[in-house]
Amino acid sequence: MERKLDVLIDARTISNRVAELGREISRDYQGRHPLLVGVLKGAVVFLSDLMRSLTVPVEIDFMAVSSYGYSTTSSGVVRILKDLEKSLEGKDVLIVEDIVDTGLTLNYLRENLASRKPNSLKVVTLLDKPERRRVEFTADYCGFVIPDYFVVGYGLDYNEKYRHLPDLCILKGEEE
Ligand code: IMP
Repeated sequence: MERKLDVLIDARTISNRVAELGREISRDYQGRHPLLVGVLKGAVVFLSDLMRSLTVPVEIDFMAVSSYGYSTTSSGVVRILKDLEKSLEGKDVLIVEDIVDTGLTLNYLRENLASRKPNSLKVVTLLDKPERRRVEFTADYCGFVIPDYFVVGYGLDYNEKYRHLPDLCILKGEEE
């Protein structure tokens, strides 16, 4: 089937919203030194823009968890493929994710990281697709709530393709 990309959120709109999130997070973390935990690979572009919009000093680390593989349907199984380098004990941890879909990944990650005794633990997601939730999950900060489309670009992929696109696009004709 032929693929088609329609722009859902353009680069300028993303950039404005990321700057707003940066201001909000900087206010909330005033006087602190949060650790941003990026979830590979989709959150890489968002994290790199978000960290530059923050006015508080940050550290960064990354985790990789199993995701959809070669299908756009979630398996519901979450596995840690790459863990953090350092202990979270006493740290103000902010998980940075690209999208909350079924909620399974972040639900698992939040519980897993909470058990490592951080001083605080919050989640920022660029996108939220609440229609597809399988477990209850609410992020502390969210860029955009979107309808149930499969989106690519700005770090998000389909079979490792399209991550480099500056706009967030709806992918049609290649799903499933
Ligand atoms: P969840 O566990 O179902 O919430 O899925 C979260 C992960 O699924 C995200 O980190 C993405 O890697 C992937 N994902 C969910 N929806 C999309 C989408 O529309 N485009 C690209 N990846 C997606």
